[in-house]
Amino acid sequence: MKNSIIAPSVLAADFANLQRDIEMINNSEADWFHIDIMDGVFVPNISFGMPVLEAITKHAKKTIDVHLMIVDPDRYIKTFKSLGADILTVHYEACTHLHRSLQAIKAEGMKAGVALNPHTNVALLEDVINDIDMVCLMSVNPGFGGQSFIENTYKKIKQLKEMINRNNAATLIEIDGGVTNQNALQLIEAGADVLVAGSYVFKASDPIATIADLKKITTI
Ligand code: DX5
Ligand code: ZN
Repeated sequence: MKNSIIAPSVLAADFANLQRDIEMINNSEADWFHIDIMDGVFVPNISFGMPVLEAITKHAKKTIDVHLMIVDPDRYIKTFKSLGADILTVHYEACTHLHRSLQAIKAEGMKAGVALNPHTNVALLEDVINDIDMVCLMSVNPGFGGQSFIENTYKKIKQLKEMINRNNAATLIEIDGGVTNQNALQLIEAGADVLVAGSYVFKASDPIATIADLKKITTI
């Protein structure tokens, strides 16, 4: 049996009721918290920063998966460790020395993730795949929640899975953007391990039931 990992994205939470929404995830079948950090430079949006992340990790009782959409992320690796990140994902497109960034993340005791924009070819990871704990395939252009899923992602999942298997790597595949109950099963069947879901969970009338449903349909 394949156990999918469901990671609700806090970006879609009600920030005026953040503790309530964090407790909702704590009490749900969700596996991880997905936390989007945007700097207004790498992506055309600013989400939230360190004080808010600190408030989230104080209450969150599950794995903290931090997705950095910022330029030059090496500057903040130690800071994100101190704020409670368990997995720290940097963008391929934002790292001049990706191998060095991955080593620095692991030296802090975190799992190291690499995110790829929709246009970035998975083959570019061939020489570092054994150093990566998780690849986050962006299935929308990063910066905003609530966008439509890009169908080309299925092809990228298959290419990446083939590379992971060929290198005997243990790398997880995470899909981020436009995930719903309409594509969740197909993504897992294609080779994905982790599904991030923001607006689909938080805009639902019953987010707990929506998470349970995502978990159920992706347990194969
Ligand atoms: C987009 C973020 C995503 C976003 C997903 O830049 O990285 O994590 O929150 O939101 P939905 O699920 O609404 O597409
Ligand atoms: Zn994200």
